[in-house]
Parts: sequence; C-alpha cells; structure tokens
Amino acid sequence: MHVRRKLVVGNWKMNGNRAALAELIPIAAAAREAAGVDVGICPPFTLIPLAVSRAGGAVAIGGQDCHASASGAHTGNVSAAMLVEAGAKLVIVGHSERRADQGETDVLVRAKAAAALAAGLRTIVCVGEVEEERIAGSHVEKVLYQLEHSLPELAAEAELVVAYEPIWAIGTGRTATCGDAAEMHRAIRESLVDRFGDAGGRVRILYGGSCNATNAAELFAVEDVDGGLVGGASLTAAQFVPIVEAAARS
Ligand code: PGA
Repeated sequence: MHVRRKLVVGNWKMNGNRAALAELIPIAAAAREAAGVDVGICPPFTLIPLAVSRAGGAVAIGGQDCHASASGAHTGNVSAAMLVEAGAKLVIVGHSERRADQGETDVLVRAKAAAALAAGLRTIVCVGEVEEERIAGSHVEKVLYQLEHSLPELAAEAELVVAYEPIWAIGTGRTATCGDAAEMHRAIRESLVDRFGDAGGRVRILYGGSCNATNAAELFAVEDVDGGLVGGASLTAAQFVPIVEAAARS
C-alpha cells in the first residue's frame, strides 16, 4: 500500500498576465501551510520565470505543454529543457484542449511525456472521455486505451502523474460524481500496476473537470483520487486556496 502525497495543480490555460501573478503570494502561503500537499501552477509560458520568483519555491511552476524534441526547427514550440531552464518543475501534456485544437495523438503525447520525464519534469499526462463515450458505456475502455498509448515507459527516478479529466466536465460546471471518479480512478490504478508493477502504485492520479472549492473535499476523499488538476478555479487565490486546504484535510 503506497502513501501518496496529494497534488493540486492549477492550469491557467491561455489566461493571466503579470498582474495576475499577485495571486501566487496567497497561494504560496497556503501551500506552505498545507502539510502533505504538493501544489503547482501552470501559467502561460511567458509568465513562467516571473511566476517562479513570485512563488518562491512553495508552489511548483509548470508548463502546459512541451515539444518532444530538445531543440530544432519547430516554430512556436518550447522544449522540456527550455521549461527546466525557465525554472519549471512540472508540465502538463496531452490536455484534451490540445488533443482537440492541435490534433495531438496518443503517440505524440507519449513522445512529449517521455521527453519531459527525461528532462526531469514531473509530468502530468491527461486522459478522458467525451460525453458520447460515457453514454455508450465505453468510457473506461476509451480511457484505458488512451492511457496505454499515451504513457511512456517509466524510469525509476522519473515522476509521472496521470490526470483523469472527463471532457464533458471541463469548463462546464458539471463534475463527475464520486462514483464516476471512483470507477475510473480504480481502473486507471489497476492498469498502472499491471503495466509498471510496484511503481504503478506510486503514480498519482488527479481528477480534473470543474473541480472547485465546493466539490474538492468529496472528490479528494475518493480512493485513488490523489488530488486535482484545476482550470477555472485556479485563476484566483480566493477560489484555489480552499481546494488546496481541502487536499490538506483529506
Ligand atoms: P476546469 O478545467 O477546472 O476549468 O474544468 C480543468 C482542466 O482543463 O484542466
């Protein structure tokens, strides 16, 4: 039985500016108070170095994507090594918005995750089903397929995190029920342990999709929900700090 520290990561998406980084001061204070919880914020690339200095080490700052190559002719992209040099400690790959907007495939996500892990970043790989798949009852199958094909091999020292984000719950105000989350997180855990053995028991599995101050505590109490990936409710300390506190109490 593994004891996994809770992890709460904010994904600012294409939101925020230098002024918004003031939110990191109370978030960092809450993170220092929240024993047993790791806290991260992934702002847009341009804000990463300044966010690192504002967060002062209490909050891990991360990127929302990285390229699979270390450098080269890839206009508009940022590599994992560049994120590390900017002070990032983590990265999100395979977010459903990138899978949809940029046509990212499982194969590409897997290559990005491998590059990020090799660069020493805590790497959050996102998976999740669309509503039609849930209605059809194929949601677990879909997510386990994505997981199998999006996760790279796992070196012992690397830190892999999985985020289960039902696409119908992202930005909609609709959240998976605790029962929905329990079913999926258990299935993901079994798949991780089947594939990685003991190391699969150490991988943290986050829930994402309209996670907020009201529903965080009950979601974090579900077995194998090891924290949250939070979009809208991570943009202000007023909304994000109660989620960090809920993780600390769980
Ligand atoms: P949301 O986004 O919390 O705004 O639903 C979650 C995510 O996309 O990571």
